[in-house]
Amino acid sequence: MGGRNNLVVFLVPVLITISLSSSVLGIQRNKLATIHVMNSMPKGSGPMQVHCKSRYTDYRMQQVGEGDGYRCDVRERALYYCMAILGRRVASWHAFQPRRDGSRKAVYWLLKDHGIFLSWDNSSWVRKSMWETE
Ligand SMILES: *[C@@H]1O[C@H](CO)[C@@H](O)[C@H](O)[C@H]1NC(C)=O
Repeated sequence: MGGRNNLVVFLVPVLITISLSSSVLGIQRNKLATIHVMNSMPKGSGPMQVHCKSRYTDYRMQQVGEGDGYRCDVRERALYYCMAILGRRVASWHAFQPRRDGSRKAVYWLLKDHGIFLSWDNSSWVRKSMWETE
């Protein structure tokens, strides 16, 4: 008698605690945003290697051809880094930064000869980073 009520009385605080602590830690399973990376290097540059990760999620290295795009999901409200390698050139940048990108659903990156450009609408671009040469 009262067994079901006891279960509810026990479970509700447990569920509240779990949901509060996961939001405090910033860990969420759902997709918060998408990172798009586009290889817009000059013709003849060849494919580049792109690697994006956060401290929780690692998408590993992928090859992105000239004019091609790469994308990955932002799964946690955490900093995501991307890195690109093309021949002797290397770039690394903050691809998703919670304070900068807020609740935007997409962050676009254009990798061009003269830098790494950010857009939130895939149309107006701001240079955020530069290539380095090893
Ligand atoms: C971004 O815009 C370019 C040029 O209009 C288009 O080719 C590309 O498909 C767009 N990317 C995404 C992810 O919508």
